[in-house]
Amino acid sequence: MTGVSRDGEAKPATAARIYDYYLGGTHNFPADREAAEAMLQVLPLGPQLAKTNRAFLRRAVRYLAESGVDQFLDIGSGIPTEGNVHEIVQQVDSEARVVYVDIDPVAVAESLEFLEGNQLATVVNGDLRDPQSILSHSQVAAMLDFNRPIGLLLGAVLHFVSDDEVAYDAVEQLRAALVPGSCLLVSHATADEVPHDQDELDVAHDIYRRKTATPLGLRTRSQIERFFTGLDLVEPGVVWLPLWRPAPDDPQYFADDPKLSAGLGGVGRIP
Ligand SMILES: C[S@@+](CC[C@H](N)C(=O)[O-])C[C@H]1O[C@@H](n2cnc3c(N)ncnc32)[C@H](O)[C@@H]1O
Repeated sequence: MTGVSRDGEAKPATAARIYDYYLGGTHNFPADREAAEAMLQVLPLGPQLAKTNRAFLRRAVRYLAESGVDQFLDIGSGIPTEGNVHEIVQQVDSEARVVYVDIDPVAVAESLEFLEGNQLATVVNGDLRDPQSILSHSQVAAMLDFNRPIGLLLGAVLHFVSDDEVAYDAVEQLRAALVPGSCLLVSHATADEVPHDQDELDVAHDIYRRKTATPLGLRTRSQIERFFTGLDLVEPGVVWLPLWRPAPDDPQYFADDPKLSAGLGGVGRIP
C-alpha cells in the first residue's frame, strides 16, 4: 500500500499503522510513515521495540493455546502481520476461535480481508475504553462462549488508554465477564527503570498526541502489575518482554540488557 488510502483520502496517522511500519509491514500511509520517522529521531529503537513486543505476544499466545485455552479476545489487535494470533493458536488447536478488536478502521478492514474464509476468526471495530460495547457485540457473542475460559489479549494497547481510571476500569469490566480459568495477557510500554532522556520521551508523547487519536500513556512497573491484581501470575511473572519464556526464534535485540526493550509483559489466570 503506497500513497494515499484506498478511498483516495489522506489519512491521519494511527498507532496501528505506525506499529505496522516498524514491523516492516506495508499497510501504512504517508502520515504514518512521517510520524514513525519523526519518532525514530528520538527513539531510534522503535522497530526493535515493536518486533520484541510482537515476539512476546507470539510466545505468550502459543503458551496459552498449549495450556488448553481455545478462545481468544484480542483487543487492540492491529494490522495482520507475520504470526497472527489465529494462525498461532489454530496451529495448536485447529478449532480455536479468535475475535480481533481494533479502534482503527483500516486495521479492521485489512484484518477482515485477511480472515476471509476463516470461520473461526473474525474482527470487529471497537474501543477498549468502552468494554461493554465489545462484550455485547453480536459477533463477539456469536464467536466466543463466555461460559468457558477465554484468553483476553491486551498486547501493547493499554498504553494508548492514558487515563488510569478508564484503563483500570476497562480491564476490570472485561475480567468480570470471564469465568475462572480465563487468562489475561498484557504487554505495556514503560520508562520505569529504563535509562532515558525525558526531553526525547516528551517529543515521542507529543507526536502521538498531535498526530494520532490515541495519545501515549506510559506506566510504571507497579501500575502495570496492578492489571493482574487477584490473578495467578504464570511464571516468570511480569517481566521485561524478552525474558518472558524466551524461544530460539526470538529476535535477539535486547539480550544484553532486557530492560532496554522498554516493555513489560505477563500472563495471569483467573482463579
Ligand atoms: C502497538 S499496536 C499492538 C498490536 C498487537 N496487539 C500487538 O501486540 O502486536 C496497538 C493497537 O491498539 C489499537 N488501539 C489503540 N487504542 C485502542 C482502543 N482504545 N481500543 C481498541 N484498540 C485500540 C491500535 O489501533 C493498534 O492497532
